[in-house]
Amino acid sequence: MSYKSKKVLITGGLGFVGSNLAIALVKKGAVVTLVDCLLPRQGGNIFNIKPVERKAVVDYADIRDPEAMNELVKNMDYIFHLAGQVSHVDSIKNPLQDLSVNAEGTLVVLEACRRFNPKAKVIFSGTRGQYGTSVRLPVDEEHPMHPKGVYAITNLCAENFVTVYNQVHKLNTIALRITNTYGPRHQMQHDEYGVFNWFIRKAIDGEAIDIFGDGRILRDFLYIDDLVDCLLKCGLTPKAYGQIFNVGTGKPVNFIDLAKKIVKIARSGSIRFTKFTNERKALEPGDYYADITKIKRVVGWKPKVGLDSGIKKTIEFYQEFKKHYWKND
Ligand SMILES: NC(=O)c1ccc[n+]([C@@H]2O[C@H](COP(=O)([O-])OP(=O)(O)OC[C@H]3O[C@@H](n4cnc5c(N)ncnc54)[C@H](O)[C@@H]3O)[C@@H](O)[C@H]2O)c1
Repeated sequence: MSYKSKKVLITGGLGFVGSNLAIALVKKGAVVTLVDCLLPRQGGNIFNIKPVERKAVVDYADIRDPEAMNELVKNMDYIFHLAGQVSHVDSIKNPLQDLSVNAEGTLVVLEACRRFNPKAKVIFSGTRGQYGTSVRLPVDEEHPMHPKGVYAITNLCAENFVTVYNQVHKLNTIALRITNTYGPRHQMQHDEYGVFNWFIRKAIDGEAIDIFGDGRILRDFLYIDDLVDCLLKCGLTPKAYGQIFNVGTGKPVNFIDLAKKIVKIARSGSIRFTKFTNERKALEPGDYYADITKIKRVVGWKPKVGLDSGIKKTIEFYQEFKKHYWKND
Protein backbone atom coordinates (compact mmCIF):
# COMPACT_ATOMS: atom_id res chain seq x y z
CA MET A 1 0.00 0.00 0.00
CA SER A 2 1.18 3.50 -0.76
CA TYR A 3 -0.09 7.06 -1.10
CA LYS A 4 0.57 7.19 -4.84
CA SER A 5 -2.45 8.79 -6.60
CA LYS A 6 -4.44 8.71 -3.34
CA LYS A 7 -6.61 11.72 -2.55
CA VAL A 8 -5.57 13.24 0.76
CA LEU A 9 -7.14 16.10 2.72
CA ILE A 10 -5.09 17.80 5.45
CA THR A 11 -6.97 20.11 7.82
CA GLY A 12 -4.63 22.74 9.27
CA GLY A 13 -2.48 22.13 6.20
CA LEU A 14 -0.68 25.49 6.29
CA GLY A 15 0.49 24.91 9.86
CA PHE A 16 3.64 23.27 11.18
CA VAL A 17 2.66 19.60 11.09
CA GLY A 18 0.24 19.91 8.16
CA SER A 19 2.70 21.60 5.80
CA ASN A 20 5.54 19.15 6.52
CA LEU A 21 3.10 16.30 5.96
CA ALA A 22 1.84 17.88 2.70
CA ILE A 23 5.39 18.14 1.34
CA ALA A 24 6.04 14.47 2.16
CA LEU A 25 2.75 13.32 0.62
CA VAL A 26 3.30 15.26 -2.62
CA LYS A 27 6.73 13.55 -2.90
CA LYS A 28 4.94 10.21 -2.57
CA GLY A 29 2.62 11.03 -5.46
CA ALA A 30 -0.55 11.80 -3.47
CA VAL A 31 -3.14 14.31 -4.68
CA VAL A 32 -3.15 16.75 -1.79
CA THR A 33 -5.78 19.31 -0.69
CA LEU A 34 -5.18 21.56 2.30
CA VAL A 35 -7.88 23.31 4.28
CA ASP A 36 -6.78 26.13 6.58
CA CYS A 37 -8.45 29.38 7.67
CA LEU A 38 -5.16 30.91 8.93
CA LEU A 39 -6.54 31.33 12.43
CA PRO A 40 -4.72 34.30 14.04
CA ARG A 41 -1.73 33.53 16.34
CA GLN A 42 -1.53 29.91 15.13
CA GLY A 43 1.17 28.48 12.90
CA GLY A 44 -0.53 28.87 9.51
CA ASN A 45 1.95 30.39 7.05
CA ILE A 46 1.67 30.25 3.27
CA PHE A 47 5.49 30.13 3.00
CA ASN A 48 5.35 26.74 4.73
CA ILE A 49 4.11 25.09 1.54
CA LYS A 50 6.48 26.90 -0.85
CA PRO A 51 8.05 23.60 -2.03
CA VAL A 52 4.62 22.27 -3.13
CA GLU A 53 2.74 25.49 -3.93
CA ARG A 54 2.00 24.38 -7.49
CA LYS A 55 1.07 20.85 -6.53
CA ALA A 56 -1.18 21.11 -3.46
CA VAL A 57 -4.60 22.77 -3.60
CA VAL A 58 -5.37 25.18 -0.74
CA ASP A 59 -8.94 25.88 0.43
CA TYR A 60 -9.20 28.70 2.99
CA ALA A 61 -12.34 27.33 4.65
CA ASP A 62 -12.91 27.05 8.39
CA ILE A 63 -13.33 23.46 9.59
CA ARG A 64 -16.33 24.65 11.62
CA ASP A 65 -18.20 25.36 8.39
CA PRO A 66 -20.27 22.20 7.69
CA GLU A 67 -21.10 23.15 4.10
CA ALA A 68 -17.44 23.57 3.21
CA MET A 69 -16.36 20.39 5.01
CA ASN A 70 -19.19 18.31 3.53
CA GLU A 71 -17.82 19.13 0.07
CA LEU A 72 -14.14 18.86 0.97
CA VAL A 73 -14.30 15.34 2.44
CA LYS A 74 -16.03 13.86 -0.61
CA ASN A 75 -13.88 11.31 -2.50
CA MET A 76 -10.92 11.63 -0.12
CA ASP A 77 -9.04 8.42 0.65
CA TYR A 78 -7.26 9.85 3.71
CA ILE A 79 -8.06 12.79 5.97
CA PHE A 80 -5.37 13.99 8.36
CA HIS A 81 -7.26 16.16 10.82
CA LEU A 82 -4.60 18.53 12.21
CA ALA A 83 -6.43 21.89 12.37
CA GLY A 84 -6.67 23.16 15.89
CA GLN A 85 -6.36 25.95 18.38
CA VAL A 86 -2.98 24.91 19.74
CA SER A 87 -1.95 27.49 22.34
CA HIS A 88 -2.44 26.50 26.00
CA VAL A 89 -2.18 30.14 27.04
CA ASP A 90 -4.77 31.29 24.48
CA SER A 91 -7.05 28.45 25.53
CA ILE A 92 -7.22 29.99 29.00
CA LYS A 93 -7.70 33.53 27.68
CA ASN A 94 -10.28 32.55 25.08
CA PRO A 95 -11.74 29.18 26.11
CA LEU A 96 -14.83 29.38 23.91
CA GLN A 97 -12.74 29.73 20.76
CA ASP A 98 -10.68 26.73 21.86
CA LEU A 99 -13.82 24.68 22.50
CA SER A 100 -15.31 25.70 19.20
CA VAL A 101 -12.25 24.96 17.03
CA ASN A 102 -11.03 21.80 18.74
CA ALA A 103 -14.26 20.11 19.80
CA GLU A 104 -16.95 21.47 17.46
CA GLY A 105 -14.50 21.62 14.53
CA THR A 106 -13.60 17.94 14.99
CA LEU A 107 -17.29 17.02 15.19
CA VAL A 108 -17.98 18.90 11.94
CA VAL A 109 -15.18 16.93 10.20
CA LEU A 110 -16.47 13.61 11.57
CA GLU A 111 -20.08 14.38 10.66
CA ALA A 112 -19.01 15.32 7.13
CA CYS A 113 -17.25 11.95 6.86
CA ARG A 114 -20.18 10.01 8.34
CA ARG A 115 -22.62 11.59 5.89
CA PHE A 116 -20.54 12.00 2.74
CA ASN A 117 -17.53 9.71 2.92
CA PRO A 118 -17.79 6.96 5.57
CA LYS A 119 -14.99 4.95 3.94
CA ALA A 120 -12.38 7.70 4.38
CA LYS A 121 -9.49 6.97 6.73
CA VAL A 122 -9.27 9.69 9.38
CA ILE A 123 -6.14 10.31 11.44
CA PHE A 124 -6.55 12.74 14.36
CA SER A 125 -3.69 14.55 16.10
CA GLY A 126 -4.40 14.82 19.82
CA THR A 127 -1.88 15.78 22.45
CA ARG A 128 0.04 14.20 25.32
CA GLY A 129 -1.37 17.16 27.31
CA GLN A 130 -4.58 15.12 27.63
CA TYR A 131 -2.85 13.07 30.37
CA GLY A 132 -2.14 16.09 32.57
CA THR A 133 0.22 15.45 35.48
CA SER A 134 1.89 12.05 35.22
CA VAL A 135 1.31 9.59 38.05
CA ARG A 136 3.86 7.17 36.54
CA LEU A 137 6.60 7.38 33.92
CA PRO A 138 6.91 6.61 31.10
CA VAL A 139 3.26 7.35 30.32
CA ASP A 140 1.44 4.56 28.47
CA GLU A 141 -1.98 4.74 26.82
CA GLU A 142 -3.71 3.33 29.93
CA HIS A 143 -2.42 6.18 32.11
CA PRO A 144 -5.26 8.14 33.78
CA MET A 145 -6.41 11.36 32.15
CA HIS A 146 -6.27 14.49 34.29
CA PRO A 147 -6.17 17.24 31.64
CA LYS A 148 -4.87 20.55 32.93
CA GLY A 149 -6.23 23.51 31.04
CA VAL A 150 -8.85 24.04 28.39
CA TYR A 151 -6.68 22.99 25.40
CA ALA A 152 -6.05 19.58 26.96
CA ILE A 153 -9.75 19.12 27.76
CA THR A 154 -10.96 20.06 24.29
CA ASN A 155 -8.39 17.70 22.72
CA LEU A 156 -9.59 14.89 24.98
CA CYS A 157 -13.15 15.73 23.98
CA ALA A 158 -12.18 15.65 20.29
CA GLU A 159 -10.42 12.30 20.80
CA ASN A 160 -13.58 10.91 22.41
CA PHE A 161 -15.63 12.06 19.42
CA VAL A 162 -13.14 10.33 17.10
CA THR A 163 -13.34 7.09 19.12
CA VAL A 164 -17.14 7.14 19.32
CA TYR A 165 -17.44 7.71 15.56
CA ASN A 166 -15.28 4.63 15.10
CA GLN A 167 -17.31 2.51 17.51
CA VAL A 168 -20.81 3.73 16.68
CA HIS A 169 -20.59 4.81 13.04
CA LYS A 170 -17.75 2.46 12.02
CA LEU A 171 -15.61 5.28 10.63
CA ASN A 172 -11.96 4.30 10.10
CA THR A 173 -10.21 6.49 12.66
CA ILE A 174 -6.91 6.63 14.50
CA ALA A 175 -6.30 8.96 17.46
CA LEU A 176 -2.76 10.01 18.32
CA ARG A 177 -1.51 11.59 21.54
CA ILE A 178 1.49 13.49 20.27
CA THR A 179 4.35 14.76 22.40
CA ASN A 180 5.99 18.22 21.99
CA THR A 181 7.27 18.37 18.44
CA TYR A 182 9.87 20.75 16.99
CA GLY A 183 11.54 21.53 13.70
CA PRO A 184 11.20 23.58 10.48
CA ARG A 185 7.92 25.41 9.67
CA HIS A 186 6.78 25.94 13.25
CA GLN A 187 5.53 29.44 14.15
CA MET A 188 8.24 31.66 15.68
CA GLN A 189 6.18 34.80 16.42
CA HIS A 190 5.56 34.26 20.13
CA ASP A 191 6.46 31.94 22.99
CA GLU A 192 2.97 30.84 23.97
CA TYR A 193 3.35 27.42 22.41
CA GLY A 194 6.25 25.51 20.93
CA VAL A 195 8.88 26.15 23.60
CA PHE A 196 11.60 24.20 21.76
CA ASN A 197 11.33 26.32 18.62
CA TRP A 198 11.22 29.46 20.77
CA PHE A 199 14.57 28.47 22.34
CA ILE A 200 15.95 28.12 18.80
CA ARG A 201 14.77 31.61 17.85
CA LYS A 202 16.38 33.10 20.96
CA ALA A 203 19.68 31.34 20.25
CA ILE A 204 19.72 32.38 16.57
CA ASP A 205 19.11 36.01 17.62
CA GLY A 206 21.94 35.79 20.17
CA GLU A 207 19.55 36.44 23.06
CA ALA A 208 18.97 34.83 26.46
CA ILE A 209 16.79 31.70 26.61
CA ASP A 210 14.47 32.04 29.61
CA ILE A 211 14.14 28.86 31.65
CA PHE A 212 11.23 28.79 34.09
CA GLY A 213 11.81 27.47 37.61
CA ASP A 214 14.80 25.17 38.13
CA GLY A 215 14.72 23.87 34.53
CA ARG A 216 14.74 20.23 35.66
CA ILE A 217 11.28 19.32 34.33
CA LEU A 218 11.49 16.43 31.86
CA ARG A 219 9.98 16.52 28.37
CA ASP A 220 9.90 14.21 25.39
CA PHE A 221 10.75 16.19 22.22
CA LEU A 222 10.08 14.70 18.79
CA TYR A 223 11.55 15.95 15.49
CA ILE A 224 8.96 16.82 12.84
CA ASP A 225 10.27 14.36 10.20
CA ASP A 226 9.69 11.55 12.68
CA LEU A 227 6.13 12.74 13.31
CA VAL A 228 5.45 12.93 9.56
CA ASP A 229 6.83 9.42 9.12
CA CYS A 230 4.56 8.27 11.97
CA LEU A 231 1.44 9.86 10.44
CA LEU A 232 2.22 8.28 7.06
CA LYS A 233 2.82 4.83 8.53
CA CYS A 234 -0.32 4.98 10.71
CA GLY A 235 -2.46 5.82 7.68
CA LEU A 236 -1.23 2.72 5.84
CA THR A 237 -1.63 0.29 8.76
CA PRO A 238 -5.10 -1.35 8.67
CA LYS A 239 -4.79 -2.76 12.19
CA ALA A 240 -4.10 0.73 13.58
CA TYR A 241 -7.68 1.83 12.82
CA GLY A 242 -9.90 2.06 15.88
CA GLN A 243 -6.83 2.52 18.07
CA ILE A 244 -5.23 5.25 20.18
CA PHE A 245 -1.44 5.64 20.23
CA ASN A 246 1.18 7.67 22.05
CA VAL A 247 3.65 9.35 19.72
CA GLY A 248 6.98 10.41 21.22
CA THR A 249 10.60 9.33 21.58
CA GLY A 250 10.41 7.84 25.07
CA LYS A 251 13.72 9.63 25.78
CA PRO A 252 13.38 12.45 28.31
CA VAL A 253 15.48 15.61 28.40
CA ASN A 254 15.27 18.50 30.85
CA PHE A 255 15.06 22.16 29.86
CA ILE A 256 18.56 23.08 31.06
CA ASP A 257 20.23 20.34 29.03
CA LEU A 258 18.08 21.22 26.03
CA ALA A 259 18.93 24.93 26.19
CA LYS A 260 22.65 24.15 26.64
CA LYS A 261 22.63 21.92 23.55
CA ILE A 262 20.84 24.58 21.48
CA VAL A 263 23.29 27.32 22.52
CA LYS A 264 26.24 25.03 21.78
CA ILE A 265 24.99 23.96 18.34
CA ALA A 266 23.86 27.49 17.35
CA ARG A 267 27.10 28.94 18.74
CA SER A 268 25.06 31.88 20.01
CA GLY A 269 22.56 32.77 22.73
CA SER A 270 22.73 32.22 26.49
CA ILE A 271 20.65 30.82 29.34
CA ARG A 272 18.78 32.79 32.00
CA PHE A 273 16.63 31.48 34.86
CA THR A 274 13.31 33.14 35.55
CA LYS A 275 10.25 32.55 37.73
CA PHE A 276 7.15 30.89 36.31
CA THR A 277 4.32 33.32 35.64
CA ASN A 278 1.17 32.34 37.59
CA GLU A 279 -0.57 31.43 34.32
CA ARG A 280 2.21 29.09 33.21
CA LYS A 281 2.66 27.54 36.65
CA ALA A 282 -1.05 26.65 36.77
CA LEU A 283 -0.83 24.90 33.39
CA GLU A 284 2.52 23.12 33.90
CA PRO A 285 1.89 19.36 34.13
CA GLY A 286 5.44 18.42 35.28
CA ASP A 287 7.58 15.56 33.96
CA TYR A 288 6.43 13.68 30.88
CA TYR A 289 7.86 11.10 28.52
CA ALA A 290 5.96 8.62 26.45
CA ASP A 291 5.83 4.85 26.47
CA ILE A 292 5.78 4.09 22.74
CA THR A 293 5.70 0.30 22.99
CA LYS A 294 2.20 0.09 21.46
CA ILE A 295 2.85 2.12 18.32
CA LYS A 296 6.16 0.31 17.75
CA ARG A 297 4.37 -3.04 17.94
CA VAL A 298 1.21 -2.24 15.95
CA VAL A 299 2.44 0.29 13.39
CA GLY A 300 6.14 -0.59 13.26
CA TRP A 301 7.12 3.06 13.72
CA LYS A 302 9.91 4.41 15.85
CA PRO A 303 11.69 7.78 15.77
CA LYS A 304 15.03 7.99 13.99
CA VAL A 305 16.28 11.57 14.39
CA GLY A 306 18.48 12.25 17.44
CA LEU A 307 18.26 15.48 19.41
CA ASP A 308 21.56 16.97 18.19
CA SER A 309 20.75 16.28 14.57
CA GLY A 310 17.19 17.64 14.92
CA ILE A 311 18.46 20.85 16.55
CA LYS A 312 21.05 21.31 13.80
CA LYS A 313 18.51 20.85 10.99
CA THR A 314 16.06 23.24 12.67
CA ILE A 315 18.70 25.95 13.15
CA GLU A 316 19.85 25.61 9.53
CA PHE A 317 16.27 25.97 8.24
CA TYR A 318 15.55 29.14 10.22
CA GLN A 319 18.95 30.67 9.48
CA GLU A 320 18.06 30.40 5.81
CA PHE A 321 14.35 31.36 5.98
CA LYS A 322 14.15 33.49 9.13
CA LYS A 323 12.53 36.45 7.36
CA HIS A 324 9.43 34.37 6.65
CA TYR A 325 8.96 33.52 10.33
CA TRP A 326 9.94 36.53 12.44
CA LYS A 327 11.12 40.11 12.29
CA ASN A 328 13.43 41.76 14.79
CA ASP A 329 12.23 45.24 15.79
N1 LIG B 1 3.27 20.77 17.37
C1 LIG B 1 3.17 20.04 18.46
O1 LIG B 1 4.09 19.97 19.29
C2 LIG B 1 1.91 19.25 18.70
C3 LIG B 1 1.89 18.36 19.78
C4 LIG B 1 0.73 17.64 20.04
C5 LIG B 1 -0.38 17.78 19.22
N2 LIG B 1 -0.33 18.65 18.19
C6 LIG B 1 -1.54 18.81 17.38
O2 LIG B 1 -1.21 18.77 16.00
C7 LIG B 1 -2.09 19.64 15.27
C8 LIG B 1 -1.27 20.58 14.41
O3 LIG B 1 -0.47 21.38 15.26
P1 LIG B 1 0.64 22.35 14.69
O4 LIG B 1 1.77 22.30 15.62
O5 LIG B 1 0.85 22.08 13.25
O6 LIG B 1 -0.08 23.76 14.89
P2 LIG B 1 -0.13 25.00 13.88
O7 LIG B 1 -0.69 26.15 14.63
O8 LIG B 1 1.19 25.19 13.22
O9 LIG B 1 -1.17 24.50 12.79
C9 LIG B 1 -2.55 24.45 13.05
C10 LIG B 1 -3.23 24.99 11.81
O10 LIG B 1 -4.64 24.85 11.97
C11 LIG B 1 -5.25 25.98 11.37
N3 LIG B 1 -6.58 26.16 11.94
C12 LIG B 1 -6.89 26.47 13.22
N4 LIG B 1 -8.22 26.56 13.35
C13 LIG B 1 -8.76 26.30 12.15
C14 LIG B 1 -10.08 26.24 11.67
N5 LIG B 1 -11.11 26.49 12.49
N6 LIG B 1 -10.29 25.93 10.37
C15 LIG B 1 -9.25 25.71 9.54
N7 LIG B 1 -7.96 25.77 9.94
C16 LIG B 1 -7.72 26.05 11.23
C17 LIG B 1 -4.33 27.13 11.72
O11 LIG B 1 -4.52 28.25 10.87
C18 LIG B 1 -2.96 26.48 11.56
O12 LIG B 1 -2.43 26.66 10.27
C19 LIG B 1 -2.95 20.36 16.31
O13 LIG B 1 -4.19 19.72 16.39
C20 LIG B 1 -2.19 20.18 17.60
O14 LIG B 1 -3.05 20.17 18.73
C21 LIG B 1 0.79 19.39 17.89
